Amino acid sequence: MCGIVGMIGQLGTKDMVLKGLETLEYRGYDSAGIALHTGEEVVVYREKGRIADLKQHVPTQADATLGIGHTRWATHGRPSKRNSHPHQDSTGRLTIVHNGVIENEKQIRHEYLSDITFVSDTDTEVIVHLLSKLLAKSGNMSAALIELQTILHGSYALAIIDREQPEVLYAVKNKSPLLIGKGEGANYLGSDALAMIEQTKHFYELNDGEFALLTKQSVQIFSKTGSLVDRETYEAQIDANDLAKGPFKHYMMKEMHEQPAVIRRITKAYLTDENETRIEDAILTALRQAKRLFILAAGTSYHAGLVGKQYFETMAQIPTEVHIASEFVYNMPFIPEGSFFIFISQSGETADSRAALVAIRERGFEALTITNVPGSTLSREANYTLLLHAGPEIAVASTKAYTAQLTVLALTAAAIKQYAIDLKLELARVATAMEHICEMSEQFEMLAQNYFAHGQHAFYIGRHVDYFVALEAALKLKEISYIHTEGFAAGELKHGTIALIEEGTPVIGLISQQAIANHTRSNLQEVSARGAHTATVVFESLAQSGDTIIIDDVHTLLAPLVMVVPVQFLAYYAAYIRDCDIDKPRNLAKSVTVE
Ligand code: M6R
Repeated sequence: MCGIVGMIGQLGTKDMVLKGLETLEYRGYDSAGIALHTGEEVVVYREKGRIADLKQHVPTQADATLGIGHTRWATHGRPSKRNSHPHQDSTGRLTIVHNGVIENEKQIRHEYLSDITFVSDTDTEVIVHLLSKLLAKSGNMSAALIELQTILHGSYALAIIDREQPEVLYAVKNKSPLLIGKGEGANYLGSDALAMIEQTKHFYELNDGEFALLTKQSVQIFSKTGSLVDRETYEAQIDANDLAKGPFKHYMMKEMHEQPAVIRRITKAYLTDENETRIEDAILTALRQAKRLFILAAGTSYHAGLVGKQYFETMAQIPTEVHIASEFVYNMPFIPEGSFFIFISQSGETADSRAALVAIRERGFEALTITNVPGSTLSREANYTLLLHAGPEIAVASTKAYTAQLTVLALTAAAIKQYAIDLKLELARVATAMEHICEMSEQFEMLAQNYFAHGQHAFYIGRHVDYFVALEAALKLKEISYIHTEGFAAGELKHGTIALIEEGTPVIGLISQQAIANHTRSNLQEVSARGAHTATVVFESLAQSGDTIIIDDVHTLLAPLVMVVPVQFLAYYAAYIRDCDIDKPRNLAKSVTVE
Protein backbone atom coordinates (compact mmCIF):
# COMPACT_ATOMS: atom_id res chain seq x y z
CA MET A 1 0.00 0.00 0.00
CA CYS A 2 1.01 3.62 -0.44
CA GLY A 3 2.76 4.87 -3.50
CA ILE A 4 5.93 6.93 -3.70
CA VAL A 5 7.42 8.96 -6.54
CA GLY A 6 10.57 11.05 -6.90
CA MET A 7 12.40 13.03 -9.54
CA ILE A 8 15.74 14.82 -9.78
CA GLY A 9 17.35 16.83 -12.55
CA GLN A 10 14.94 19.14 -14.31
CA LEU A 11 12.23 21.68 -13.77
CA GLY A 12 8.79 20.16 -14.14
CA THR A 13 9.41 18.01 -11.08
CA LYS A 14 6.25 19.16 -9.32
CA ASP A 15 4.01 18.20 -12.24
CA MET A 16 5.81 14.90 -12.77
CA VAL A 17 5.52 13.95 -9.11
CA LEU A 18 1.83 14.89 -8.91
CA LYS A 19 1.01 13.04 -12.13
CA GLY A 20 3.01 10.03 -10.96
CA LEU A 21 1.06 10.05 -7.71
CA GLU A 22 -2.23 10.11 -9.59
CA THR A 23 -1.09 7.00 -11.43
CA LEU A 24 -0.21 5.38 -8.13
CA GLU A 25 -3.47 6.32 -6.41
CA TYR A 26 -4.59 2.72 -6.84
CA ARG A 27 -2.09 1.91 -4.08
CA GLY A 28 -3.86 4.08 -1.52
CA TYR A 29 -5.78 7.30 -1.53
CA ASP A 30 -6.58 8.58 1.93
CA SER A 31 -4.04 11.41 2.02
CA ALA A 32 -1.15 12.68 -0.07
CA GLY A 33 1.80 15.04 -0.04
CA ILE A 34 4.84 16.27 -1.91
CA ALA A 35 8.14 17.92 -0.99
CA LEU A 36 10.04 20.21 -3.37
CA HIS A 37 13.66 21.30 -2.91
CA THR A 38 13.87 24.90 -4.12
CA GLY A 39 17.68 24.90 -4.02
CA GLU A 40 17.68 26.52 -0.58
CA GLU A 41 14.85 25.01 1.32
CA VAL A 42 12.48 22.06 1.21
CA VAL A 43 8.82 22.99 0.96
CA VAL A 44 6.23 20.41 1.97
CA TYR A 45 2.56 20.31 0.91
CA ARG A 46 0.20 17.72 2.43
CA GLU A 47 -3.53 17.14 2.44
CA LYS A 48 -6.07 14.60 3.61
CA GLY A 49 -7.93 13.01 0.69
CA ARG A 50 -7.02 12.47 -2.93
CA ILE A 51 -4.27 13.91 -5.13
CA ALA A 52 -6.94 16.21 -6.56
CA ASP A 53 -7.35 17.72 -3.07
CA LEU A 54 -3.59 18.09 -2.65
CA LYS A 55 -3.25 19.81 -6.03
CA GLN A 56 -5.54 22.61 -4.92
CA HIS A 57 -3.06 23.47 -2.18
CA VAL A 58 0.13 23.41 -4.25
CA PRO A 59 0.73 26.81 -5.87
CA THR A 60 0.70 26.61 -9.68
CA GLN A 61 4.01 28.43 -9.92
CA ALA A 62 5.78 26.12 -7.43
CA ASP A 63 8.48 24.01 -9.06
CA ALA A 64 11.88 22.49 -8.42
CA THR A 65 14.47 20.14 -9.87
CA LEU A 66 14.21 17.76 -6.93
CA GLY A 67 10.99 16.45 -5.41
CA ILE A 68 9.29 13.47 -3.79
CA GLY A 69 5.66 12.55 -3.24
CA HIS A 70 3.43 10.05 -1.49
CA THR A 71 -0.13 8.75 -1.68
CA ARG A 72 -1.19 6.97 1.50
CA TRP A 73 -3.16 3.97 2.68
CA ALA A 74 -3.12 4.44 6.44
CA THR A 75 -1.49 1.77 8.60
CA HIS A 76 -0.24 3.77 11.60
CA GLY A 77 -2.54 6.63 12.52
CA ARG A 78 -5.80 7.79 10.98
CA PRO A 79 -5.97 9.34 7.55
CA SER A 80 -5.27 13.02 8.33
CA LYS A 81 -3.07 15.89 7.28
CA ARG A 82 -0.69 15.41 10.24
CA ASN A 83 -0.18 11.73 9.40
CA SER A 84 0.28 12.27 5.69
CA HIS A 85 3.76 12.11 4.17
CA PRO A 86 6.35 13.56 3.60
CA HIS A 87 7.69 13.61 7.15
CA GLN A 88 10.66 15.63 8.38
CA ASP A 89 13.17 15.42 11.21
CA SER A 90 13.14 18.10 13.91
CA THR A 91 15.63 20.33 12.08
CA GLY A 92 13.83 20.08 8.74
CA ARG A 93 17.06 18.88 7.11
CA LEU A 94 15.73 15.47 6.11
CA THR A 95 12.43 14.84 4.34
CA ILE A 96 11.17 11.35 3.55
CA VAL A 97 8.29 9.40 2.08
CA HIS A 98 7.79 5.75 2.98
CA ASN A 99 5.82 2.77 1.74
CA GLY A 100 5.78 -0.15 4.16
CA VAL A 101 5.55 -0.91 7.85
CA ILE A 102 8.27 -0.61 10.49
CA GLU A 103 7.69 -3.52 12.83
CA ASN A 104 10.01 -2.38 15.63
CA GLU A 105 8.96 1.28 15.67
CA LYS A 106 8.03 1.17 19.36
CA GLN A 107 11.40 -0.24 20.31
CA ILE A 108 13.16 2.40 18.18
CA ARG A 109 11.18 5.21 19.80
CA HIS A 110 12.15 3.87 23.23
CA GLU A 111 15.82 3.07 22.53
CA TYR A 112 16.90 5.87 20.22
CA LEU A 113 14.30 8.63 20.17
CA SER A 114 13.13 9.23 23.74
CA ASP A 115 14.08 12.94 23.43
CA ILE A 116 12.00 13.53 20.29
CA THR A 117 8.60 15.22 20.22
CA PHE A 118 6.66 13.44 17.52
CA VAL A 119 4.18 15.36 15.43
CA SER A 120 2.40 12.40 13.82
CA ASP A 121 1.26 8.88 14.73
CA THR A 122 3.17 7.24 11.90
CA ASP A 123 5.97 4.72 11.94
CA THR A 124 7.55 6.77 9.15
CA GLU A 125 8.35 9.64 11.47
CA VAL A 126 10.48 7.21 13.47
CA ILE A 127 12.61 6.56 10.39
CA VAL A 128 13.31 10.21 9.66
CA HIS A 129 14.30 11.06 13.25
CA LEU A 130 16.48 7.96 13.50
CA LEU A 131 18.20 8.73 10.20
CA SER A 132 18.77 12.29 11.36
CA LYS A 133 20.56 11.04 14.49
CA LEU A 134 22.65 8.55 12.51
CA LEU A 135 23.58 11.26 10.00
CA ALA A 136 24.57 13.64 12.79
CA LYS A 137 26.79 10.90 14.24
CA SER A 138 28.60 9.83 11.05
CA GLY A 139 28.32 13.01 8.99
CA ASN A 140 27.87 10.80 5.95
CA MET A 141 24.56 9.81 4.39
CA SER A 142 25.74 6.46 2.99
CA ALA A 143 27.07 5.42 6.39
CA ALA A 144 23.83 6.57 8.01
CA LEU A 145 21.73 4.57 5.55
CA ILE A 146 23.82 1.45 6.12
CA GLU A 147 23.36 1.77 9.88
CA LEU A 148 19.68 2.64 9.49
CA GLN A 149 19.06 -0.67 7.76
CA THR A 150 20.70 -2.61 10.58
CA ILE A 151 18.15 -1.10 13.00
CA LEU A 152 14.91 -1.07 11.00
CA HIS A 153 12.79 -4.24 10.93
CA GLY A 154 9.96 -4.42 8.46
CA SER A 155 9.18 -3.27 4.96
CA TYR A 156 10.21 0.05 3.55
CA ALA A 157 10.62 1.78 0.24
CA LEU A 158 12.01 5.21 1.04
CA ALA A 159 12.72 8.35 -0.94
CA ILE A 160 14.84 10.85 0.97
CA ILE A 161 15.79 14.47 0.38
CA ASP A 162 18.69 16.03 2.33
CA ARG A 163 18.28 19.82 2.36
CA GLU A 164 22.09 20.15 2.36
CA GLN A 165 22.40 18.11 -0.86
CA PRO A 166 20.05 19.64 -3.43
CA GLU A 167 21.75 17.62 -6.18
CA VAL A 168 20.98 14.21 -4.70
CA LEU A 169 17.90 12.01 -4.23
CA TYR A 170 18.28 8.91 -2.05
CA ALA A 171 16.27 5.69 -2.32
CA VAL A 172 16.20 2.67 -0.02
CA LYS A 173 14.30 -0.58 -0.53
CA ASN A 174 13.37 -3.51 1.64
CA LYS A 175 10.36 -5.75 0.90
CA SER A 176 8.26 -2.88 -0.52
CA PRO A 177 8.44 -2.31 -4.27
CA LEU A 178 10.69 0.43 -5.65
CA LEU A 179 12.06 1.04 -9.14
CA ILE A 180 14.53 3.62 -10.40
CA GLY A 181 13.73 5.17 -13.79
CA LYS A 182 16.68 6.20 -15.97
CA GLY A 183 15.97 9.37 -17.92
CA GLU A 184 17.83 11.91 -20.07
CA GLY A 185 19.13 14.70 -17.84
CA ALA A 186 16.83 13.55 -15.05
CA ASN A 187 16.26 10.39 -13.04
CA TYR A 188 13.18 9.07 -11.29
CA LEU A 189 11.93 6.66 -8.70
CA GLY A 190 8.54 5.13 -8.06
CA SER A 191 6.65 2.25 -6.50
CA ASP A 192 5.61 1.15 -9.95
CA ALA A 193 6.94 1.73 -13.47
CA LEU A 194 3.55 3.20 -14.43
CA ALA A 195 4.33 6.29 -12.33
CA MET A 196 7.27 7.18 -14.60
CA ILE A 197 6.30 5.59 -17.90
CA GLU A 198 5.72 8.94 -19.60
CA GLN A 199 9.32 9.89 -18.74
CA THR A 200 11.18 6.63 -19.41
CA LYS A 201 10.88 2.96 -20.29
CA HIS A 202 14.25 2.05 -18.77
CA PHE A 203 14.38 0.93 -15.19
CA TYR A 204 16.77 -0.37 -12.56
CA GLU A 205 15.41 -2.91 -10.10
CA LEU A 206 16.48 -2.52 -6.50
CA ASN A 207 16.86 -5.65 -4.40
CA ASP A 208 15.93 -5.83 -0.74
CA GLY A 209 18.50 -4.07 1.42
CA GLU A 210 19.92 -2.00 -1.41
CA PHE A 211 20.01 1.78 -1.53
CA ALA A 212 20.59 4.18 -4.40
CA LEU A 213 21.94 7.65 -4.96
CA LEU A 214 20.35 9.50 -7.86
CA THR A 215 21.64 12.71 -9.40
CA LYS A 216 20.62 14.51 -12.58
CA GLN A 217 23.13 12.46 -14.60
CA SER A 218 23.71 9.25 -12.68
CA VAL A 219 22.25 6.39 -10.70
CA GLN A 220 24.48 4.51 -8.25
CA ILE A 221 23.18 1.43 -6.49
CA PHE A 222 24.76 0.11 -3.29
CA SER A 223 24.44 -3.14 -1.38
CA LYS A 224 23.26 -3.21 2.22
CA THR A 225 26.89 -2.93 3.31
CA GLY A 226 27.73 -0.10 0.96
CA SER A 227 29.54 -1.78 -1.95
CA LEU A 228 28.75 -0.41 -5.37
CA VAL A 229 26.47 -2.74 -7.33
CA ASP A 230 26.80 -3.15 -11.09
CA ARG A 231 23.24 -3.26 -12.46
CA GLU A 232 21.86 -3.02 -16.00
CA THR A 233 18.56 -1.35 -16.79
CA TYR A 234 15.67 -3.32 -18.28
CA GLU A 235 13.05 -2.05 -20.68
CA ALA A 236 9.46 -2.13 -19.42
CA GLN A 237 6.91 -3.55 -21.84
CA ILE A 238 4.23 -1.05 -20.90
CA ASP A 239 2.53 1.42 -23.16
CA ALA A 240 1.58 4.81 -21.66
CA ASN A 241 -1.74 4.41 -23.57
CA ASP A 242 -2.63 1.47 -21.31
CA LEU A 243 -3.30 4.08 -18.67
CA ALA A 244 -6.05 5.86 -20.65
CA LYS A 245 -9.72 5.12 -19.90
CA GLY A 246 -10.67 5.44 -23.56
CA PRO A 247 -14.43 5.85 -24.05
CA PHE A 248 -15.23 4.40 -20.61
CA LYS A 249 -16.22 6.32 -17.49
CA HIS A 250 -14.27 4.01 -15.21
CA TYR A 251 -11.26 1.74 -15.45
CA MET A 252 -13.38 -1.13 -14.15
CA MET A 253 -15.72 -0.88 -17.14
CA LYS A 254 -12.77 -0.62 -19.52
CA GLU A 255 -11.11 -3.64 -17.94
CA MET A 256 -14.30 -5.74 -18.08
CA HIS A 257 -14.55 -4.97 -21.80
CA GLU A 258 -10.90 -5.91 -22.33
CA GLN A 259 -11.50 -9.49 -21.19
CA PRO A 260 -12.19 -11.09 -24.60
CA ALA A 261 -8.99 -9.52 -25.99
CA VAL A 262 -7.03 -10.66 -22.95
CA ILE A 263 -8.22 -14.26 -23.37
CA ARG A 264 -7.13 -14.19 -27.03
CA ARG A 265 -3.77 -12.65 -26.11
CA ILE A 266 -3.09 -15.30 -23.46
CA THR A 267 -4.07 -18.10 -25.84
CA LYS A 268 -1.54 -16.76 -28.34
CA ALA A 269 1.14 -16.40 -25.70
CA TYR A 270 0.71 -19.94 -24.36
CA LEU A 271 -0.25 -22.02 -27.42
CA THR A 272 1.56 -22.41 -30.75
CA ASP A 273 -0.30 -22.43 -34.08
CA GLU A 274 -0.20 -26.21 -33.80
CA ASN A 275 -1.96 -26.04 -30.44
CA GLU A 276 1.19 -27.06 -28.54
CA THR A 277 2.00 -25.50 -25.19
CA ARG A 278 4.63 -22.79 -24.97
CA ILE A 279 5.01 -23.22 -21.21
CA GLU A 280 8.66 -23.78 -20.31
CA ASP A 281 9.71 -27.42 -19.89
CA ALA A 282 11.20 -26.65 -16.48
CA ILE A 283 7.79 -25.54 -15.18
CA LEU A 284 5.97 -28.52 -16.63
CA THR A 285 8.59 -30.92 -15.27
CA ALA A 286 8.27 -29.43 -11.79
CA LEU A 287 4.49 -29.76 -11.97
CA ARG A 288 4.63 -33.30 -13.35
CA GLN A 289 6.90 -34.35 -10.50
CA ALA A 290 4.69 -32.76 -7.86
CA LYS A 291 2.90 -35.17 -5.55
CA ARG A 292 0.65 -32.41 -4.23
CA LEU A 293 0.03 -28.83 -5.24
CA PHE A 294 -0.59 -25.97 -2.85
CA ILE A 295 -2.19 -22.88 -4.32
CA LEU A 296 -1.79 -19.76 -2.17
CA ALA A 297 -3.40 -16.41 -2.82
CA ALA A 298 -5.64 -13.65 -1.44
CA GLY A 299 -9.01 -12.14 -2.38
CA THR A 300 -9.99 -12.53 -6.00
CA SER A 301 -6.80 -14.44 -6.72
CA TYR A 302 -7.78 -16.94 -4.02
CA HIS A 303 -11.12 -17.39 -5.78
CA ALA A 304 -9.22 -18.07 -9.00
CA GLY A 305 -7.18 -20.62 -7.07
CA LEU A 306 -10.35 -22.53 -6.11
CA VAL A 307 -11.14 -22.97 -9.79
CA GLY A 308 -7.47 -23.81 -10.38
CA LYS A 309 -7.77 -26.76 -7.98
CA GLN A 310 -10.58 -28.07 -10.15
CA TYR A 311 -8.31 -27.80 -13.20
CA PHE A 312 -5.27 -29.48 -11.67
CA GLU A 313 -7.31 -32.31 -10.20
CA THR A 314 -9.46 -32.89 -13.30
CA MET A 315 -6.95 -32.31 -16.06
CA ALA A 316 -3.70 -33.37 -14.42
CA GLN A 317 -4.88 -35.64 -11.58
CA ILE A 318 -2.65 -33.90 -9.06
CA PRO A 319 -4.16 -33.52 -5.56
CA THR A 320 -4.40 -29.80 -4.93
CA GLU A 321 -5.06 -27.69 -1.86
CA VAL A 322 -5.99 -24.01 -1.96
CA HIS A 323 -5.16 -21.75 0.97
CA ILE A 324 -5.66 -18.14 1.92
CA ALA A 325 -2.08 -16.89 2.10
CA SER A 326 -2.49 -14.88 5.30
CA GLU A 327 -3.83 -17.95 7.13
CA PHE A 328 -1.38 -20.43 5.67
CA VAL A 329 1.70 -18.61 6.82
CA TYR A 330 0.83 -18.70 10.53
CA ASN A 331 -1.07 -22.01 10.58
CA MET A 332 0.65 -24.30 8.15
CA PRO A 333 -0.98 -27.60 7.30
CA PHE A 334 1.04 -30.79 6.94
CA ILE A 335 3.10 -30.37 3.75
CA PRO A 336 4.22 -33.73 2.38
CA GLU A 337 7.55 -34.16 0.60
CA GLY A 338 7.25 -33.58 -3.12
CA SER A 339 4.80 -30.71 -2.71
CA PHE A 340 4.97 -27.81 -5.13
CA PHE A 341 3.55 -24.32 -4.58
CA ILE A 342 1.65 -22.01 -6.88
CA PHE A 343 1.19 -18.37 -5.92
CA ILE A 344 -1.48 -16.41 -7.74
CA SER A 345 -1.25 -12.64 -7.51
CA GLN A 346 -2.29 -9.97 -9.97
CA SER A 347 0.13 -7.42 -8.51
CA GLY A 348 2.85 -9.84 -7.48
CA GLU A 349 3.30 -7.64 -4.41
CA THR A 350 0.73 -8.94 -1.91
CA ALA A 351 2.51 -9.07 1.44
CA ASP A 352 0.46 -12.00 2.78
CA SER A 353 1.42 -14.11 -0.22
CA ARG A 354 5.01 -12.98 -0.03
CA ALA A 355 5.28 -13.97 3.62
CA ALA A 356 4.03 -17.45 2.69
CA LEU A 357 6.45 -17.65 -0.22
CA VAL A 358 9.39 -16.77 2.01
CA ALA A 359 8.27 -19.37 4.56
CA ILE A 360 7.93 -22.25 2.09
CA ARG A 361 11.19 -21.36 0.29
CA GLU A 362 12.94 -21.50 3.67
CA ARG A 363 11.56 -25.03 4.04
CA GLY A 364 13.08 -25.97 0.69
CA PHE A 365 9.96 -26.10 -1.51
CA GLU A 366 9.84 -24.74 -5.05
CA ALA A 367 7.22 -22.26 -6.22
CA LEU A 368 5.64 -20.89 -9.35
CA THR A 369 4.13 -17.40 -9.37
CA ILE A 370 1.26 -16.56 -11.72
CA THR A 371 1.20 -12.78 -11.94
CA ASN A 372 0.35 -9.85 -14.16
CA VAL A 373 3.48 -7.90 -13.29
CA PRO A 374 6.85 -9.04 -14.63
CA GLY A 375 9.67 -8.37 -12.18
CA SER A 376 7.27 -8.09 -9.25
CA THR A 377 8.45 -9.32 -5.86
CA LEU A 378 6.56 -12.63 -5.99
CA SER A 379 7.86 -13.24 -9.48
CA ARG A 380 11.47 -12.55 -8.54
CA GLU A 381 11.35 -14.63 -5.40
CA ALA A 382 9.69 -17.72 -6.86
CA ASN A 383 11.54 -20.31 -8.93
CA TYR A 384 9.26 -19.90 -11.92
CA THR A 385 6.82 -17.32 -13.30
CA LEU A 386 3.88 -17.42 -15.67
CA LEU A 387 2.59 -14.04 -16.79
CA LEU A 388 -1.06 -13.11 -17.20
CA HIS A 389 -0.57 -10.74 -20.15
CA ALA A 390 -3.69 -8.85 -19.02
CA GLY A 391 -2.17 -5.35 -19.29
CA PRO A 392 -2.23 -2.98 -16.31
CA GLU A 393 -5.30 -3.44 -14.12
CA ILE A 394 -6.00 -0.09 -12.51
CA ALA A 395 -9.46 -0.45 -10.94
CA VAL A 396 -9.19 -1.74 -7.39
CA ALA A 397 -11.84 -4.36 -8.16
CA SER A 398 -10.08 -7.10 -10.07
CA THR A 399 -11.88 -8.28 -13.23
CA LYS A 400 -9.67 -9.03 -16.20
CA ALA A 401 -6.91 -10.35 -13.94
CA TYR A 402 -9.33 -12.97 -12.53
CA THR A 403 -10.34 -14.27 -15.95
CA ALA A 404 -6.69 -14.12 -17.06
CA GLN A 405 -5.72 -16.17 -13.99
CA LEU A 406 -8.34 -18.82 -14.82
CA THR A 407 -7.10 -18.95 -18.41
CA VAL A 408 -3.46 -19.41 -17.45
CA LEU A 409 -4.42 -22.01 -14.85
CA ALA A 410 -6.45 -23.96 -17.43
CA LEU A 411 -3.64 -23.79 -20.01
CA THR A 412 -1.10 -24.94 -17.43
CA ALA A 413 -3.18 -27.78 -16.01
CA ALA A 414 -4.05 -29.04 -19.50
CA ALA A 415 -0.38 -29.03 -20.56
CA ILE A 416 0.79 -31.23 -17.68
CA LYS A 417 -0.65 -34.47 -19.04
CA GLN A 418 -1.90 -33.21 -22.38
CA TYR A 419 -5.53 -33.37 -21.31
CA ALA A 420 -7.87 -33.92 -24.23
CA ILE A 421 -9.30 -30.45 -24.70
CA ASP A 422 -8.86 -28.13 -27.66
CA LEU A 423 -8.15 -25.04 -25.61
CA LYS A 424 -7.50 -22.87 -28.62
CA LEU A 425 -11.04 -23.50 -29.83
CA GLU A 426 -12.65 -23.51 -26.39
CA LEU A 427 -11.00 -20.28 -25.30
CA ALA A 428 -12.01 -18.64 -28.59
CA ARG A 429 -15.60 -19.61 -27.69
CA VAL A 430 -15.10 -18.09 -24.25
CA ALA A 431 -13.89 -14.81 -25.77
CA THR A 432 -16.92 -14.67 -28.08
CA ALA A 433 -19.32 -15.46 -25.23
CA MET A 434 -17.72 -12.67 -23.20
CA GLU A 435 -18.26 -10.26 -26.07
CA HIS A 436 -21.95 -11.17 -26.16
CA ILE A 437 -22.19 -10.54 -22.43
CA CYS A 438 -20.55 -7.11 -22.82
CA GLU A 439 -23.28 -6.28 -25.35
CA MET A 440 -25.92 -6.93 -22.64
CA SER A 441 -24.70 -3.97 -20.60
CA GLU A 442 -28.09 -2.18 -20.57
CA GLN A 443 -29.82 -5.28 -19.22
CA PHE A 444 -27.35 -5.42 -16.35
CA GLU A 445 -27.96 -1.78 -15.51
CA MET A 446 -31.73 -2.42 -15.30
CA LEU A 447 -31.22 -5.50 -13.18
CA ALA A 448 -28.89 -3.68 -10.82
CA GLN A 449 -31.53 -0.97 -10.48
CA ASN A 450 -34.12 -3.61 -9.73
CA TYR A 451 -32.08 -5.69 -7.28
CA PHE A 452 -29.43 -3.47 -5.75
CA ALA A 453 -30.61 0.15 -5.75
CA HIS A 454 -31.77 -0.20 -2.15
CA GLY A 455 -31.11 -2.67 0.61
CA GLN A 456 -28.01 -3.67 2.50
CA HIS A 457 -27.80 -7.44 2.03
CA ALA A 458 -27.55 -9.83 -0.90
CA PHE A 459 -26.57 -13.42 -1.69
CA TYR A 460 -25.00 -15.18 -4.62
CA ILE A 461 -25.45 -18.95 -4.53
CA GLY A 462 -24.13 -21.80 -6.63
CA ARG A 463 -22.89 -25.36 -6.50
CA HIS A 464 -19.74 -26.97 -7.88
CA VAL A 465 -17.62 -24.36 -9.70
CA ASP A 466 -20.59 -21.97 -9.65
CA TYR A 467 -20.03 -21.78 -5.90
CA PHE A 468 -16.49 -20.47 -6.51
CA VAL A 469 -17.91 -17.86 -8.88
CA ALA A 470 -20.54 -16.98 -6.25
CA LEU A 471 -17.69 -16.18 -3.84
CA GLU A 472 -16.09 -13.90 -6.41
CA ALA A 473 -19.44 -12.34 -7.31
CA ALA A 474 -20.06 -11.50 -3.66
CA LEU A 475 -16.60 -9.99 -3.20
CA LYS A 476 -17.07 -7.84 -6.30
CA LEU A 477 -20.47 -6.54 -5.21
CA LYS A 478 -19.55 -5.78 -1.59
CA GLU A 479 -16.16 -4.28 -2.45
CA ILE A 480 -17.48 -1.53 -4.70
CA SER A 481 -21.17 -1.06 -3.75
CA TYR A 482 -20.78 -1.63 0.02
CA ILE A 483 -23.80 -3.96 -0.01
CA HIS A 484 -23.13 -6.74 2.45
CA THR A 485 -23.05 -9.79 0.19
CA GLU A 486 -22.36 -13.46 0.86
CA GLY A 487 -21.30 -16.03 -1.68
CA PHE A 488 -22.79 -19.34 -0.59
CA ALA A 489 -22.78 -23.00 -1.51
CA ALA A 490 -26.44 -23.26 -2.53
CA GLY A 491 -27.05 -26.43 -0.53
CA GLU A 492 -25.55 -24.96 2.63
CA LEU A 493 -28.01 -22.07 3.07
CA LYS A 494 -30.62 -24.25 4.75
CA HIS A 495 -28.10 -25.18 7.45
CA GLY A 496 -28.47 -21.83 9.16
CA THR A 497 -27.95 -18.85 6.90
CA ILE A 498 -31.42 -19.07 5.38
CA ALA A 499 -32.55 -17.41 8.61
CA LEU A 500 -31.25 -14.14 7.14
CA ILE A 501 -33.61 -14.20 4.17
CA GLU A 502 -36.24 -11.48 4.45
CA GLU A 503 -38.85 -10.01 2.17
CA GLY A 504 -36.96 -8.65 -0.85
CA THR A 505 -33.46 -9.99 -0.05
CA PRO A 506 -31.74 -10.41 -3.42
CA VAL A 507 -30.53 -13.99 -4.00
CA ILE A 508 -28.90 -14.71 -7.35
CA GLY A 509 -28.35 -18.30 -8.41
CA LEU A 510 -25.52 -19.23 -10.78
CA ILE A 511 -26.16 -22.29 -12.96
CA SER A 512 -23.63 -23.54 -15.47
CA GLN A 513 -23.37 -27.26 -14.68
CA GLN A 514 -26.10 -29.67 -15.73
CA ALA A 515 -25.56 -32.07 -12.82
CA ILE A 516 -26.44 -29.43 -10.23
CA ALA A 517 -28.87 -27.22 -12.14
CA ASN A 518 -32.03 -28.64 -10.59
CA HIS A 519 -30.57 -28.63 -7.11
CA THR A 520 -29.63 -24.96 -7.31
CA ARG A 521 -33.08 -24.18 -8.72
CA SER A 522 -34.65 -25.96 -5.72
CA ASN A 523 -32.55 -23.87 -3.36
CA LEU A 524 -33.72 -20.74 -5.14
CA GLN A 525 -37.32 -21.93 -4.68
CA GLU A 526 -36.69 -22.38 -0.97
CA VAL A 527 -35.50 -18.81 -0.50
CA SER A 528 -38.15 -17.44 -2.84
CA ALA A 529 -40.80 -19.10 -0.64
CA ARG A 530 -39.38 -17.06 2.23
CA GLY A 531 -39.62 -13.74 0.40
CA ALA A 532 -36.26 -13.53 -1.41
CA HIS A 533 -36.06 -11.58 -4.64
CA THR A 534 -34.39 -14.23 -6.80
CA ALA A 535 -32.62 -14.11 -10.15
CA THR A 536 -30.58 -16.53 -12.22
CA VAL A 537 -27.47 -16.41 -14.40
CA VAL A 538 -27.64 -19.52 -16.51
CA PHE A 539 -26.10 -21.28 -19.52
CA GLU A 540 -28.35 -21.23 -22.58
CA SER A 541 -28.53 -25.04 -22.73
CA LEU A 542 -29.85 -25.13 -19.14
CA ALA A 543 -32.19 -22.14 -19.40
CA GLN A 544 -35.88 -22.29 -18.50
CA SER A 545 -38.60 -19.75 -18.93
CA GLY A 546 -38.32 -17.07 -16.29
CA ASP A 547 -34.50 -17.16 -16.13
CA THR A 548 -32.97 -13.71 -15.76
CA ILE A 549 -29.59 -13.68 -17.52
CA ILE A 550 -28.94 -16.29 -20.20
CA ILE A 551 -25.42 -16.60 -21.56
CA ASP A 552 -23.74 -18.67 -24.28
CA ASP A 553 -22.59 -22.14 -23.28
CA VAL A 554 -18.85 -22.79 -23.20
CA HIS A 555 -16.90 -25.93 -22.22
CA THR A 556 -18.09 -26.76 -18.69
CA LEU A 557 -14.55 -26.61 -17.28
CA LEU A 558 -14.25 -23.05 -18.54
CA ALA A 559 -17.69 -21.99 -17.29
CA PRO A 560 -16.34 -19.72 -14.49
CA LEU A 561 -14.62 -17.58 -17.12
CA VAL A 562 -17.97 -16.50 -18.55
CA MET A 563 -20.23 -16.88 -15.52
CA VAL A 564 -18.21 -14.21 -13.73
CA VAL A 565 -18.69 -11.50 -16.37
CA PRO A 566 -22.42 -10.79 -15.72
CA VAL A 567 -21.77 -10.52 -11.99
CA GLN A 568 -18.92 -8.09 -12.60
CA PHE A 569 -21.34 -5.91 -14.59
CA LEU A 570 -23.98 -6.19 -11.88
CA ALA A 571 -21.45 -5.07 -9.26
CA TYR A 572 -20.38 -2.18 -11.46
CA TYR A 573 -23.92 -0.91 -12.02
CA ALA A 574 -24.92 -1.43 -8.37
CA ALA A 575 -22.01 0.79 -7.37
CA TYR A 576 -22.83 3.27 -10.13
CA ILE A 577 -26.49 3.57 -9.11
CA ARG A 578 -25.50 3.98 -5.46
CA ASP A 579 -23.05 6.71 -6.43
CA CYS A 580 -19.99 4.89 -5.11
CA ASP A 581 -16.42 5.59 -6.15
CA ILE A 582 -16.16 2.58 -8.46
CA ASP A 583 -12.44 2.54 -9.23
CA LYS A 584 -11.33 3.55 -5.75
CA PRO A 585 -13.69 2.03 -3.19
CA ARG A 586 -13.40 3.21 0.39
CA ASN A 587 -10.79 1.74 2.73
CA LEU A 588 -9.12 -0.26 -0.03
CA ALA A 589 -6.01 -0.19 -2.17
CA LYS A 590 -5.07 -2.14 -5.24
CA SER A 591 -1.81 -3.51 -4.05
CA VAL A 592 -1.88 -4.82 -0.51
CA THR A 593 1.73 -4.66 0.59
CA VAL A 594 1.16 -4.90 4.34
CA GLU A 595 0.38 -8.11 6.23
O1 M6R B 1 -2.53 -8.57 -6.35
P1 M6R B 1 -3.22 -9.77 -5.75
O2 M6R B 1 -3.92 -10.60 -6.76
O3 M6R B 1 -2.30 -10.60 -4.90
O4 M6R B 1 -4.30 -9.15 -4.79
C1 M6R B 1 -5.08 -9.96 -3.96
C2 M6R B 1 -6.30 -9.24 -3.46
O5 M6R B 1 -5.92 -8.14 -2.68
C3 M6R B 1 -7.18 -8.74 -4.60
O6 M6R B 1 -7.52 -9.79 -5.46
C4 M6R B 1 -8.46 -8.09 -4.05
O7 M6R B 1 -9.23 -9.05 -3.43
C5 M6R B 1 -9.21 -7.40 -5.18
N1 M6R B 1 -9.33 -6.01 -4.88
C6 M6R B 1 -10.59 -7.91 -5.38
O8 M6R B 1 -11.23 -7.24 -6.41
